[in-house]
Amino acid sequence: RRIVVLISGTGSNLQALIEAQEHDRLGGEIVAVVSNQADAQGLKRARDAGIDAVALPHREYESRETFDGALIKVIERHEPDLVVLAGFMRILTPRFVQRFLGRMLNIHPSLLPAYQGLHTHARALEDGVSEHGCSVHFVTEELDGGPVALQAAVRVDADDGLENLKDKVQAREHLILPIAVNWFLEGRLQLTGDHITMDGISL
Ligand code: GRF
Repeated sequence: RRIVVLISGTGSNLQALIEAQEHDRLGGEIVAVVSNQADAQGLKRARDAGIDAVALPHREYESRETFDGALIKVIERHEPDLVVLAGFMRILTPRFVQRFLGRMLNIHPSLLPAYQGLHTHARALEDGVSEHGCSVHFVTEELDGGPVALQAAVRVDADDGLENLKDKVQAREHLILPIAVNWFLEGRLQLTGDHITMDGISL
């Protein structure tokens, strides 16, 4: 089965997917990595792994719609069974979401539905929460609002600063994203209407 991964930056989640694939734990092949930032380190990770690395600089498109149209074309050329947003920092148009609804996953650095949007670690620290974490969810038209497939929680310690909380959460991201991708590609995880089905059971 074929996976296309969308990134914008470092690509540590992409790296986790590449390593899962190399250890036959992913259940599919990453056939392309697409970034809206031409200088994204993740593109180099893709090239080093022999994966087709495509830069699609969003600033070269005059609108969100034309960029998304070009992105759809690049993705569909690779005929994916699954699209994974791994640190892809663009808001997608409804047209794009509908095109891949049910076969597009995102990794978000919070325990959704808490802390949708940006700066999740800073907001969690500011609120003094004792627990934080990350979520893999299906992408729907609601930003960071799609049905959640898998989460991992971390305890927030009193001496946690922004960087080490981010590191603690990212370490868990790198564990749960490959697992959720594998479950999806094995047909164990599906989006059924507005909820998740796991092993045929509606959750
Ligand atoms: C991840 O922490 C992800 O949760 C957030 O952006 C970060 C991307 O990191 N959306 P990387 O590019 O995967 O290293």
